[in-house]
This record gives sequence, structure tokens and C-alpha cells, in this order.
Amino acid sequence: MGEAARRRTREASRRRYLMCPPTYFAVDYAINPWMDPNAPVDGGRAVRQWNALRSAIERLGHGVELIDPVPGLPDMVFAANGATVIDGRVLVASFRHPERSGESAAFEKWFRDRGYVTVTAAEYVNEGEGDHLAVGRTVLAGNGFRTERAANEETAGFFGRPVTGLQLVDPRFYHLDTALAVLDGRTVMLWPGAFTAAGRRRVARLFPEELTVQESDAERFGLNVISDGRHVILPAAAERTAGLLAAHGFEPVRVEMDELAKGGGGPKCCVLELGDPTQLSAAA
Ligand code: ARG
Repeated sequence: MGEAARRRTREASRRRYLMCPPTYFAVDYAINPWMDPNAPVDGGRAVRQWNALRSAIERLGHGVELIDPVPGLPDMVFAANGATVIDGRVLVASFRHPERSGESAAFEKWFRDRGYVTVTAAEYVNEGEGDHLAVGRTVLAGNGFRTERAANEETAGFFGRPVTGLQLVDPRFYHLDTALAVLDGRTVMLWPGAFTAAGRRRVARLFPEELTVQESDAERFGLNVISDGRHVILPAAAERTAGLLAAHGFEPVRVEMDELAKGGGGPKCCVLELGDPTQLSAAA
């Protein structure tokens, strides 16, 4: 297929995201290899970059809802980790590290206040959409660093969907959304080194199209992207990934994220996908 033909096949769908302003963003502790509590963080710059990310999402026509940041929870800006939402059902995250465990109550309250009917606090450790990525009916689950393997069964039961566990093997890519991106229902982008051979085979069976990024771009959170099926918001630093996406008919939208990256995340970590608003109370 020629490039022009390919480009025509990429279709955007409207999304709805929950975001948390980085009002209290800081790197006061280290729970992943990217965090260095001795390196200075420019809070104002983090806020500007987050605002620009929000604007980029809204410019593409997507909805953004906000949850109030909580003092003392500096990682709450990484809202992806707060819960997993599928078909209007909400599985609230149970965090691996005590530094983040206070976030669960804040997210649970937000969903209840918004009228979500089926909201459950997870029993096993799972870090929400940081480790859970839906593709078709299947949920991919990253295991090994944060979300425990035993959580996969809980997730499958809660959503009534098959869960495919993927063991993560490189501590730099500790959440699934730092190692793999679902660009659309048939296209995946990943850095193979973050997975076992068995995991790579599982991914290949699910996606007819697979894009592979360079390790150096994965290190710039080039896989931590927000895709609507056509536009792909990615960190500006991941230049080669932008080229790769364009060559495959996607439209890269580059955002500066280096300040928030000091916490160990990129654009996708900052959004929790809420799904179709008409599905809000479908689980009642
Ligand atoms: N400092 C946060 C942590 O280590 C970063 C979370 C990044 N989120 C993500 N979805 N990958 O938990």
C-alpha cells in the first residue's frame, strides 16, 4: 500500500480524558529509575508543559475533565495510574508504593461524585491504565514492576474481558504504557527489549501491524503517546518516533514534556481515558 493510500485509512475517534494539574508536582522520592530527588524540578515549567499538553488534546477535539490535585501526592499528575475505565466500569488502582497509595481514595471519590455506578477498589496491586491497555475486547496487562500478575484475574473478572499478561523485564520501562502503545485496534508500537519472547509473540498475535521504535526513543518516552487512531501526541524529544509514525500514515503532534519526564512519564501518563460518555452508567 502506498503512503497516500495508507494515510486515508487512519481515522480519528473522539476521546474523553481525565487529567490532574501538576500543582504539587515534585520529585521528592524515587520509585522508578528516572526519578532523582537531587535534581531540580521547575514547577512553573511543569505547569506550562502540562497546559500545552491539555491544549493539544483539546485542539484535536477531545474532551478533558479535571480532578483536583491533592497536596502531598506529587505523582497525581500521572492520572493514567488512578484507575482503569472500560464500558463505564471503574476499577480503582491499588498502588505498589506507599508514596502513591493516597491517590486511590481521591480517584475513587471523583468517579463516585461523577455518578459512575460500578466503582470498585482493586484488591491486588494494579496501577490502572499505566499497565492496562485495551485493544478490541482484550486488555493487555503489564506485569513485573507495578501491577502484580494475580491482578490480571481480578481485572478479567471485573470487566468480563480476556486479559493478556505481558511480563516487563527492563526497570526503565516499568509501566506497560512506557514500553508499548496501542495506536489503533490493529496497530501497535513498541520497544521489543522491554518484553520476553513469549510476550512479543502474544502481542504479534493481537496486532496485524507492528511499529518498532529505537531504544533511545523509548528512553525519551517515545512510546508514552496519546493516539486517537490518527493523531499521535508524543514527547518532542522522540524525533525518530515522530518520523516513524508519519511514515505509517499517522499525524505526530509533538509536545515538550521534559520537566514532567523527571517524574518518569510522558503525555500518556498524564491522561486517564474515560471512554464513551454515553457508557457512563451502562454498567448499572
Ligand atoms: N513517578 C510515577 C511513578 O513512578 C510516574 C508514573 C508514570 N505513569 C505511567 N502511566 N507510566 O509511579
